[in-house]
Amino acid sequence: MKILVMNGPNLNLLGEREPGIYGSESLASINERLAAEGKKLGAELDFFQSNHEGALIDKLHACRGVYQAVILNAGAYTHYSIAIRDAIAAIKLPVIEVHLSNIHSREEFRHTSVIAPVCVGQISGFGAYSYTLALYAALEVAG
Ligand code: DQA
Repeated sequence: MKILVMNGPNLNLLGEREPGIYGSESLASINERLAAEGKKLGAELDFFQSNHEGALIDKLHACRGVYQAVILNAGAYTHYSIAIRDAIAAIKLPVIEVHLSNIHSREEFRHTSVIAPVCVGQISGFGAYSYTLALYAALEVAG
């Protein structure tokens, strides 16, 4: 079982970026813990982060035939990238939408996720633990 964990714009700054909202743990540390958890559960995890919409789309396309599921925090692209939504719909792989913060309790513009309708489900609001929950969800749907 191979799962890709993808992070979009500004998530490379986790730990220093608005820690009151996103926590003080770095993306490298979250990924390290997730890889260990995945290993225990029999899943091999790869990781990808980009601040560029096209790079995220290229990576989604490249998932075909390689991964059984994708865990995706698309960052702000969540709220307006029809191109990322279309890429998710095109690859026919289970994609789990994840957010550290509860996007529904924040600014109005974050309440809409244009990718939600083409993802299997959304996990939002549990901080770094959102990724762990997404890992279990990915194993459930792809396993
Ligand atoms: C986020 C929420 C988005 O609204 C925001 O633009 C992010 C991070 C989250 O993980 O809570 O970059 O996806």
